[in-house]
Amino acid sequence: MTEKAQSFGRYLVRTGKDIKRRGDRYAAWRAERATGGDWFYEYTLTGPAGPSVSLQDAMGRSVSALNFNSQDYLSLTSHPDVRAAVLRAVHDFGLHSAGAPMLAGNTRVSRGLEADLASWMGLGAVATFPTGWSAGFGAIAGLCCERDEIFIDELAHDCLVAGARASGAKLTPFAHNDLANLKDCLDSSAPSGGRLVVTEALFSMNGDSPDLKGLVDLCARKQATLVLDVAHDLGAIGPRGLGEMELQGVLGQVDVVLGSFSKSFATTGGFVGSTHANLIDFLRCSAGSSRASNGASPLQSAAARAALHIIRSPQGGALRSRLAANGQLLRSALAGSKETASPFIIHPLEGLARGRELTGRLLDEGVIVSLIEYPAVPLQEPRWRFQLMATHTPDEIGRAADTVNRVVQQPRGSSSDSRRPELDYRTGRQSYSM
Ligand SMILES: Cc1ncc(COP(=O)(O)O)c(C=O)c1O
Repeated sequence: MTEKAQSFGRYLVRTGKDIKRRGDRYAAWRAERATGGDWFYEYTLTGPAGPSVSLQDAMGRSVSALNFNSQDYLSLTSHPDVRAAVLRAVHDFGLHSAGAPMLAGNTRVSRGLEADLASWMGLGAVATFPTGWSAGFGAIAGLCCERDEIFIDELAHDCLVAGARASGAKLTPFAHNDLANLKDCLDSSAPSGGRLVVTEALFSMNGDSPDLKGLVDLCARKQATLVLDVAHDLGAIGPRGLGEMELQGVLGQVDVVLGSFSKSFATTGGFVGSTHANLIDFLRCSAGSSRASNGASPLQSAAARAALHIIRSPQGGALRSRLAANGQLLRSALAGSKETASPFIIHPLEGLARGRELTGRLLDEGVIVSLIEYPAVPLQEPRWRFQLMATHTPDEIGRAADTVNRVVQQPRGSSSDSRRPELDYRTGRQSYSM
């Protein structure tokens, strides 16, 4: 295998005495992939992240493509009400929260957003955070300590694992979505402190969900506190937009619910809510990512609050219906995709080299999609994730599916390699432009 064909895992290792040189091998590998035309990351948008997108790739090549690589499930980032709310917030509060929530980093808009989220989800209280990652990290690190044990789904998101590690609690991964295995783990544990079970409502690399009713019951029986990350489903699915909690009938029964605004709520930011209001006041102070970090900006709060208002309205229902219809259309048109009811579609690839080759061909043909590689997924299981938007048209979906189906039929190694730019990533010199 050439260096270029290797995985991220090999280059993200943190070894070597001279710490400042630890990026050198990664940089060389990244440059080799980029000059070879198979670095599908770190794009620079030159316009809005809509169903079609204009961007520059890492080589400086300009690309216009049908876009399945952005997270805006309900297409609310371009909604006039959301934009108007942001402009009003800029006028009323300026650009910046200018403080941690414990100090003066709250505004009427952020307080209103927290109250709206709590009443919508049937929770006692909600606190907002500047990103979903900091919400997930802060909630878990801020709740647990060395005496506790945290049971975490083996595929849980990076922020949840990082928070669990930072807490110092004993970490026990359980098999993905496997309640019988979780029960065995709980049965064989006896921490001197408490027990926290951490999982997601809709897994973003698989498109699958745990049995939430079973999980709520199991946690209640075993005196464990349940934390559920609803980043990908909240707003995007369910009759009222309340995601898997609504679909599986556990609204108001999950101890701690956390999520992100970056998928369906038109902005960066995140939240943690709980049926126990006191826990949220505790977290505002115990979570370092709240106590020691400036709060979400007025722009973020205004965008998320306006998005929530739409999500709760009949218009939100109509957008969810269009999103679901788009998902069904793409899923049925794409041979070999996984059958899930998520706002994104997972399409398995036959190995890393083939996956990179096909992703490059798709980009050349004007379709951009997320290539998910190790360590985000197991080494042998790279996949495409097609992220849908409510405003993708049937024609755009049809054209994308036709392109994908044609490209995956092409034999290995016979692609449009001759169209690849011959550029030096490090110097930026170009010998090709599209
Ligand atoms: C399950 C899950 N939790 C948390 C996050 C972090 O959210 P954010 O992008 O708002 O930091 C993500 C982001 O992709 C996610 O997929």
